[in-house]
Amino acid sequence: MKINNQKSKAWAGRFTESTHAFVERFTSSLPFDQQLFEYDILGSLAHCQTLEKAKILTRAECRSLMRGLRHVRTELRERRFPFADSDEDVHMAVERRVTELIGPVGGKLHTGRSRNDQVTLDLRLYLRDHLQMVTLRLQGLQRAFLQQARQTTDVILPGYTHLQRAQPVLLTHHFLAYVEMLERDHARVQDTYKRVNVMPLGSGALAGTNYPLDRAFTAKVLGFPALTRNSMDAVSDRDYVAETLGVLSIIMMHLSRLSEELVLWSSEEFSFVDLPDGFCTGSSMMPQKKNPDVPELIRGKTGRVYGHLFSIMTTLKGLPLSYNRDLQEDKEPLFDAMETVLECLTVSAELIQRLQIRRDVLTDTLQSGFVLATELADYLVQKGVPFRDAHRVVGQLVRHCTEHKVTLHDLSFADLKTVSPHFSQDAMACLTLEGAIDRKTQIGGTSRKQVVRQMHAWESRLAKRSKG
Ligand code: ARG
Repeated sequence: MKINNQKSKAWAGRFTESTHAFVERFTSSLPFDQQLFEYDILGSLAHCQTLEKAKILTRAECRSLMRGLRHVRTELRERRFPFADSDEDVHMAVERRVTELIGPVGGKLHTGRSRNDQVTLDLRLYLRDHLQMVTLRLQGLQRAFLQQARQTTDVILPGYTHLQRAQPVLLTHHFLAYVEMLERDHARVQDTYKRVNVMPLGSGALAGTNYPLDRAFTAKVLGFPALTRNSMDAVSDRDYVAETLGVLSIIMMHLSRLSEELVLWSSEEFSFVDLPDGFCTGSSMMPQKKNPDVPELIRGKTGRVYGHLFSIMTTLKGLPLSYNRDLQEDKEPLFDAMETVLECLTVSAELIQRLQIRRDVLTDTLQSGFVLATELADYLVQKGVPFRDAHRVVGQLVRHCTEHKVTLHDLSFADLKTVSPHFSQDAMACLTLEGAIDRKTQIGGTSRKQVVRQMHAWESRLAKRSKG
């Protein structure tokens, strides 16, 4: 067995043998936790100040450490940080380099701290930034929908249930449905943020620390409104990672449903919309093809994000208190899911903005179906017929039309009279798309008045949000 003979580990004191080269690679989180370096250094800068306040560091030592940390930050930002094989993770790499740069004082940086409280701090700082980005991109997509909504208040769409044409709705109403979904996503992100925004430093490895660290001060420096209250929970808690992945999964679920609609709507069978050429690809063999790759990929990536949620749930389920190395497995799923969701939100907004609506096709589609059948049933109800009977009568009319290959509009007054004596001359007047839309006057209905009111409410809500 080949042994790596470097004695460069911070914890080497306890060991007689160096880490096996393979184990070094197997246990290293550096390839992925490098992403945390900004947050790691931010946390260390705050920790230095806390150590100085507790008189564990002199003013000069604190300054020198902070200078070293900033220097390392520049090296990392400029991609000229000299990584070493012995660096297990971003925390060790930063500390090693600071010590190389400023000398033995570097060895004081980790006083009163463990990587266990450090890593969860880093993740919380990462999430504060990234949840904020998710929030902004959710808003970007809401705005794109609102822009389409504004342009389509005059467009009527056959609304579907069971993917069967059901009742006419305003296309604006359909777009605003997505604005609602995204708003719930927004609320979930905000709620998760509250639990992320808690400062864990000072928890040490698991028990707390022997040093008089002013945790409230650290929290203030880093802008956390609250402190973790139990050191054991603080170092082992990754609920906020699971929660984030849950929230991200729901966002992807919404994007995937949208994508599915775009795939359907852009198909030749529906032809309700045209996707922009720049968002589609052709086929290498079939010249006529214009494939909806972007929505297909979003739909596909949803599975990947769900997988990450399941991965963290499974990692956490068997862990005794407090920190266990298993927790290192929290990062890759979180980072990948985050990157995926941010990208998918951006591309969805771009796509929605550029969506071309095929008004002509929508109009034709509405003529041929039976989307007004319910209106006719409701007409009979107005004339005093119990709804169940009205439903049966109109059902008979639809069957008659289907058998004779005609539409409800082709029926004569005499035809109507044969199925129910309650039909009068005015019956056909209720069979208009506009009438069907405008009768849905209650809050949440698709009448133009309600929909426009909702649209304006969203406009001012989102405008206010971008100001605040
Ligand atoms: N890389 C580790 C992680 O991601 C950092 C904490 C390691 N702590 C330890 N005691 N080995 O969780």
